[in-house]
Amino acid sequence: MSEAVTVTENATEQWHEVSHLDDLWEGEMTAVEVEGKSVLLVNMDGDVFAYQNRCPHQEWPLEDGDLEGRKLTCAQHLWEFDVCTAKGINPSTSTLVGYECKVDDDGAISVRVR
Ligand code: FES
Repeated sequence: MSEAVTVTENATEQWHEVSHLDDLWEGEMTAVEVEGKSVLLVNMDGDVFAYQNRCPHQEWPLEDGDLEGRKLTCAQHLWEFDVCTAKGINPSTSTLVGYECKVDDDGAISVRVR
């Protein structure tokens, strides 16, 4: 589980198994649906991060962007984000919205949305 994404705990929120490490290799990202929300999953060197799949600028799907190393570039207006910290690179004042994410010992990836 990522330490970079701050998440508010809520006992009523449920974990949803959404993917597996076999289907999301290191350096890859994909989008999944959880409770009607589009969630972006990113596997960065074995750590999996989950974010709202909407750019904080004008809500373009981040899955359409370009991932180079840990830098995600939105396809629409080229805003850049660090997928390991959720922080904007350009502009630095922007931030991705993160979801709690975990990888079980068997490689199953689960997220909890709020
Ligand atoms: S919608 Fe992503 S940079 Fe504008």
